[in-house]
Parts: sequence; C-alpha cells; structure tokens
Amino acid sequence: MIRKTKAACQIGMYGLGPMGRSLALNFADHGYSVATYNFTADLTWQLMSVPGLASLVTPFFNERDFVAGLRQPRTVMIMVKSGAPVDEVLDRLLPMLDPGDVIIEGGNSDFRDTARRQRSVNEKGVMYIGSGVSGGEEGARRGPSLMPGGNVEAWPVVKEMLQAIAARNQQGRPCCEWIGPEGAGHFVKTHHNGIEYGVMQIIGEVCWFMRALGMSNDEIADAMDNWNETLKAFLLEITADVLRAQDDDGSPLLDHVLDVAGAKGTGAGTVVSALDLGQSVNILAAGVAARLMSKNRRRRRLEIRDLYQLPEPALAGGHEEWAAKLGPALEAAFALAYAQGFTTLEEASMQYGWGLNLPQIASIWGGGCIIRADILNEISAAYTANPTLDTLLVAPAFVECIRRGVPALREVVSAAVLAGLPVPAMNSALSNFDSMRSPNLVLAGVIALLRDLFGAHTFQRNDRPGVFHRDWSKG
Ligand code: 6PG
Repeated sequence: MIRKTKAACQIGMYGLGPMGRSLALNFADHGYSVATYNFTADLTWQLMSVPGLASLVTPFFNERDFVAGLRQPRTVMIMVKSGAPVDEVLDRLLPMLDPGDVIIEGGNSDFRDTARRQRSVNEKGVMYIGSGVSGGEEGARRGPSLMPGGNVEAWPVVKEMLQAIAARNQQGRPCCEWIGPEGAGHFVKTHHNGIEYGVMQIIGEVCWFMRALGMSNDEIADAMDNWNETLKAFLLEITADVLRAQDDDGSPLLDHVLDVAGAKGTGAGTVVSALDLGQSVNILAAGVAARLMSKNRRRRRLEIRDLYQLPEPALAGGHEEWAAKLGPALEAAFALAYAQGFTTLEEASMQYGWGLNLPQIASIWGGGCIIRADILNEISAAYTANPTLDTLLVAPAFVECIRRGVPALREVVSAAVLAGLPVPAMNSALSNFDSMRSPNLVLAGVIALLRDLFGAHTFQRNDRPGVFHRDWSKG
C-alpha cells in the first residue's frame, strides 16, 4: 500500500536506471526526502525493495502525482538517456511545474542542447541546471563529482543538497561547485570524459607494450600498482583490478574479452567541441579513434593480417628495465593529456565568456570522478598560482614531470613503432610535446606555401610583418 504523502519531498528523481537509482539512495542516505518516478514501474518497485527506505523515499507511478509530491519550490532531477529522451521528459514535465521550480538534468548531454533547454525552460520561469555527474554507478551511490551549470540563481536552492551527496577531495572539500552559465557544466563533464578517453588509451597501450614483452597480466598489474603508489590515479588502480580479474574457470578474464571498446559519444563530443574552439586535442582524439578502430570488423582485421603477413608485435628487453622507462613515460603522457583537456577548458571559458574557475574544476575532480588522480592537485595549484596560464606545459610541476618522462616516452614509442605495436596516444603525446617545443615548425611553412600555390590563401613571413602571395606562374 503506497502512502499518499503531502507535498513533502525535497527532491524528485525522474529516471531510476543505475545512475538515478544510486543518486536517489545517496540523497536518502543524507536525510533528504526523495520522490521517485520511472517510466516503467518495475524499477520503482525494485528501488522500494531496498530496506530502510520507506521513511525517506516515496514512489510515484504517474508524473502528475510525482510532481504533486514535491515541496515547493520544487527540485526535479532528470536522469534519463541523453538526447531526445531528455526533451521528451521536459515536454511532459514543464506544464506541471511553476515559476521558481528547478530542473537538474544530470546526463551526459551536449552543452549546446543544455543551453537550448535552459532558454526554453526559463520562458516558463522555471530554472535549469545541466550538471555533469561523474563516478559511475558507485560514485553516484557513495559520492560523485558534480559539475552543475546553467541558471546561477538556482545554485543557492540546490547547493546544500548537491554538496551533501558529493564525494570529498583530499582537502575534504565537496566535489561539487558551481561551474558556470548555459551548458558550462555539461561542457566540463564532456571534457572530463575526453581526458578519460586519452588516459584510458595510454593505459591500454602500456598494457599491450608489456604483453609484447611477454609479461603476464599479474606482472602488468603489479607494475600498475607500483606506479600508482606515486600517481594515485583511480584509472591505474582499477586497471590492476581488471588485469587480475579471473573468469569462471580461474583463467585471466582479459584473455576472453573481445577486443572491441565501446564509446557512447562523450569522447567524440570532446574532439568536436575542441575543434570548434580551434583547439587540438590529438592525444584525447587518439583515444576516440582507437575505440572506433577496435570496432572495425574483426574478420577484416584478420584478412588484412593474412594479406600483409607481418609478425605479431614482440619486444625484447628486461621487464624491470622497461618498467623503469614505462613509468615515467606513462606519467608524462598523462600530464600531456590532462594539459590538453585543461587548455580547451581555458579556451572555452574565454570564447564563451563562462569565467570557468580552473583551479576549482581541478579540485572537484580530486574525488569521486573517473579521472581523479594526484596530478589534479598540481593542476589546481598551477592555475591558482597563475590564473592566466594558457598551458600547463610551463607550470613547474609539469616541466619537471615532462622533462623526466619525455626521454623514456621517446624510447617506448620508438620501440613500439619498430615492433609494429600501435601506440597512437603515446605517439600523439610525444608529437604534441615535440611540436610545442619547436621554435620553427617547418611542416607548417610547407603547408602555408602549398595553400598559397593551389589556393592563393597567402602566407606570412618570419622576417617582416604582412600577408603575402607569390605569383607561382613565374615558376
Ligand atoms: C563518468 C563516466 C560516465 C560513463 C561514460 C561512458 O564520468 O562517470 O565517464 O560518464 O561511464 O559516459 O562513456 P563512454 O561509453 O563514452 O566511454
């Protein structure tokens, strides 16, 4: 028997998939009364089967009762698949809401969609927040990193609740702070995922390198644990876990996993939105491309292997000797990947006028989120010390790490390339660094003249100001 409750619930959770369910439980754990609704009642009943919830979680089985069960001004959190489902839910909910109510949309939405939705919802006097939610199901349940953005006047309404359920970083601060207007919150989450793609790709390449050395999954896991004592990166920690995972028969699970990596689109969103800002994110893009490559039909890859008859990648050298190089190489590649992500955030803040607080973004990524790692402390300190920093490559902590790691990265990439082992992210990191440290990018001069020859696109000179075009018909 479901109690009919007066409009008492402090927050409504619309959508009880893994993330919505976990967030609802997290709010209840923190003493907030939660109204729940899901398009299909099964998930609502499933949640109600969790013991001890009756006093704080009230299930509703139609949207009208769900809205009526909320304390005014209402706060509704929507956790449904990004894209059209969000618009469909808004179309249904908006007529039931009043001016002063707040909608929080916590999916992986495109920041442009969020800005559009905010404008439309604001016409009714309802406030809109597009919030990144990072940390997966476990994070949502125990403490996510939250990146709210949109109507800043809604922040005082929801700040206490969101910071209560958020993770804490190493400084004990909530991993939830106001990000900025419009779609800034979702933009920052998208680029969190872009860094995630880049870092996961680097990790995958290092794992393959060690497999090509003949190391076992357990030996590779031990190397990850060893590096993680310094780097303290969540993705390194769980890499050791997946490498040690055993299948039902006790054999290494990894050896039975099909070599195809999925992608729901946040990585691609990072690359497109970075390019729109005139930013190269070649390391992060390598992570996106490698996943798409892995989806190429396996049969086709076997056919190409048989056509070209090339040996499987194999590397020589001592495991310890290479591990001593792979560690600094991985650390430098990580640093270059994070640096690319933050440079794009900086550029977006300037071009979109968002006034992003980069030290604070690094700080709220210090716990709960997937890319949490000690490097974020250094990033926060670097931007605090120099708010106008346009690249982390000149921050002292980064200079030291990259100076230490690049020689090893060069050795690792060279050995991999000679062995026919694909390392697109580490190679992109190295090329990114070599480009950034080159006073004269000869390749750019050649391209400038080519463009001028075939398209009269003009070029500049390095010895005098101005814009030039050469009459190539003169030979
Ligand atoms: C997070 C994760 C989360 C989700 C990814 C998966 O921050 O908690 O990134 O958002 O697991 O979106 O996305 P891909 O399928 O693109 O890897």
